[in-house]
Amino acid sequence: MHQNEFPKVERAFLVGAEVRGTNSVISLQDSLSELALLAETAGMEVVGQTTQTLNSIVPATFIGSGKLEEVQAVIKELEADAVIFDDELSPRHQREISKVFGNDIKLLDRSALILDIFAQHAKTKEGSLQVELAQYEYRLPRLTRQWTHLARQAGGSAAGSGVGGVGLRGPGETQLEVDRREIGRKIDRIKRDLEGVRQHRSQHRQQRRKTGIPVIALVGYTNAGKSTLLNHLTNASVYAQDQLFATLDPTTRRTALPSGRQVLLTDTVGFIQKLPTTLIAAFRATLEETQEASMLLHMVDISHPNVVAHIDVVEDTLAEIDVPSMPRILVWNKIDRWAGDTPPQFPDSDMYREQVCISARTGEGVPELLEAIERVFAQELVRITLQIPFERGDLVSRLYRIGRVLTQESSAEGMILDVEIPKSAQDRYQDFAYENT
Ligand code: GTP
Repeated sequence: MHQNEFPKVERAFLVGAEVRGTNSVISLQDSLSELALLAETAGMEVVGQTTQTLNSIVPATFIGSGKLEEVQAVIKELEADAVIFDDELSPRHQREISKVFGNDIKLLDRSALILDIFAQHAKTKEGSLQVELAQYEYRLPRLTRQWTHLARQAGGSAAGSGVGGVGLRGPGETQLEVDRREIGRKIDRIKRDLEGVRQHRSQHRQQRRKTGIPVIALVGYTNAGKSTLLNHLTNASVYAQDQLFATLDPTTRRTALPSGRQVLLTDTVGFIQKLPTTLIAAFRATLEETQEASMLLHMVDISHPNVVAHIDVVEDTLAEIDVPSMPRILVWNKIDRWAGDTPPQFPDSDMYREQVCISARTGEGVPELLEAIERVFAQELVRITLQIPFERGDLVSRLYRIGRVLTQESSAEGMILDVEIPKSAQDRYQDFAYENT
């Protein structure tokens, strides 16, 4: 193969800063390790890093000017192509820092990097539109003449992806050359398109709701093992990789619990600390599926040193995107990589109806997880007696699918069934309630 056919791997230098006296969920060092993983996921090579503790963020340049000069010297020595800040840089920070580093150095922040990874991983139309929208919204305030110029200069990209200028892949560099109004128009168009896709999806969801099959949503920090569990339970081939945000689009699969009860399992996008605001909005839409769920499985990687902080980040993000309260099971995954006897202490364990240790990879503990799900469903069941007209055999077979039929007998007016069904389905059967007088 000709040497030029290999895309040049960009050499990235990481910068982290913390303000004295503020308490972050994850230590600066761990946050930088996570940033390094993000950079590698985007196809870059991390060549070095530095940190600074500040009394306050410097309005113009984010970090102090002395530190900035130090970074400039180090990146020259290391022949770095890109500098990545662990926090979201304001348009002003970006302008001022670029002035110091010059146009040959690509300047990124955590948000731009995450958007870039999302752009690589979005597969469905909705996922791609959401990322495109988030990219434009991130880009709009940063689109100054300086940035447009920088975009033209920057050219090359991580893994040949077209990451240019503000470090965004996807819509393509040429988009950086259009003016604000044009970007504004594009944002409007994407929003309209997204509305169309959403309506379609909501119709689909309504249809699904009619089947009465309960939905269980898998949520968790990125890389916790959600896709692996979904694959294990449903034999679906959802993309599971040791990469951050391997799954962007929600995938829903049907599976049966040991009792024969059918459930729909939905895999959702992973969460991460310091999520950019534009992306929270995208998450909100992507996570519409969880609004329909009757149970959440919160998956965590027990072998990760920051697992307790990860749990907090996920719960905070769920609260921020208004996921309704519903029974939760805390699933401690990757137990095959865990040497301890018991899971780490989690202070808010009351939030969870059950806690189960599993390995989605080996299958260890999965039967116990399914039993825990059954138990939680059992707590959510109501027992009612129904009279279903003979011509509504469809309703009878649906009852067998969504609940447990305890007795069934016929009467002159129809079938009398004594059933346990999910509380959420009770309203739909209200018209058939049977009262034996
Ligand atoms: P995102 O798409 O980033 O949200 O990740 P995810 O939560 O869907 O995680 P995924 O299933 O892609 O798994 C992440 C990595 O962890 C993959 O390399 C999996 O093979 C690995 N993994 C998942 N479950 C286990 C497990 O039980 N044990 C071990 N050792 N590895 C696991």
